[in-house]
Amino acid sequence: MEANVRSYVVAHLPGDGIGPEVTAVARDLVDQAGKEHGFTVDWRHCPLGSEHYLRTGEVLPDDALNDLRKTDAIFLGAVGSPAVRPGVLERGLLLKLRFDLDLYVNLRPARLRRGVPSYGPGALDAIIVRENTEGLYAGAGGIAHRGSALEVATEESLNTRAGVERCIRYAASLAKKRSGKLTLVHKTNVLTNAGSLWKRVADEVATEQGVPLEYAHVDAACLYLVSDPGRFDVIVTDNLFGDIITDLAAALTGGLGLSASGNLNPDRTGPSMFEPVHGSAPDIAGTGKANPAGAVLSAALMLDHLGEAAAAAGLEAAVDAVLAAGGAGSCQGWSEALSAEVAR
Ligand code: IPM
Ligand code: MN
Repeated sequence: MEANVRSYVVAHLPGDGIGPEVTAVARDLVDQAGKEHGFTVDWRHCPLGSEHYLRTGEVLPDDALNDLRKTDAIFLGAVGSPAVRPGVLERGLLLKLRFDLDLYVNLRPARLRRGVPSYGPGALDAIIVRENTEGLYAGAGGIAHRGSALEVATEESLNTRAGVERCIRYAASLAKKRSGKLTLVHKTNVLTNAGSLWKRVADEVATEQGVPLEYAHVDAACLYLVSDPGRFDVIVTDNLFGDIITDLAAALTGGLGLSASGNLNPDRTGPSMFEPVHGSAPDIAGTGKANPAGAVLSAALMLDHLGEAAAAAGLEAAVDAVLAAGGAGSCQGWSEALSAEVAR
């Protein structure tokens, strides 16, 4: 091996359902790209997820979190299992990682690739910047009088000026690097408190950065994403709106199987985490039907973040080429077709 080869420590957290099968494909392709581009990845297996929880009762022990903090990046498959009560792993593992590692941007590109049928009159080519640590995901709220006729459940949306500002700042800088188009998506006509804060901060940041700002209410944004996708380039939005519109954007660009995400700590005070958007899909786990492209594109986002832009572009191009040729069917088919493209 060359003495000066670049090397990265990456935690591989395959998790549940189809997570292990799709991340295994992506990991091999990253290794293959590394040989071509002169870097190695020191993968550290991290066995957290439903099986570990059911066996040990542990969701995310402190020492595991501390080990994850010391890595260059985290590559995650999926979290969630029908055998575990909803929320235990989602909140205790996935959201805890997002919050504790301060992964305040959830970056979700949505581009209609050649060979993928379009639903509507135009082709979406946008990046959604979803705030990833606050809003209705913050966990503020509770239940009183559980089970009685007077039961009450609250869920409060937390929006801090600092949290909103850093997210919008990231989106504005991304818009500057792309087309310059930035759209804030919110619901300022009803959520007048949080909406006011988001709108004022977005106006301030956009003015300061010299980026023209457009605005769409979230319901209208759903309509436009389908009927007039060309109006969007970089979208910035809060945590729950971002969760919802990124599934819509996925459907408009070939489905969840092709959708990638990066949970970013843009300040680089610790590792960022990369995961396909699709989730654990327990209904098809082990059938060989899972599409690993979303995991591969997430690995490309990871390589880009690590500074391996050429290798990242190679993985992107490989997915584009396989799709343009009509796709590859099974997980194994995708693995072989992508590997052949990366070798080309
Ligand atoms: C996503 C997922 C998660 C979310 C779930 C699994 C907690 O839907 O990454 O979009 O809501 O953020
Ligand atoms: Mn989601």
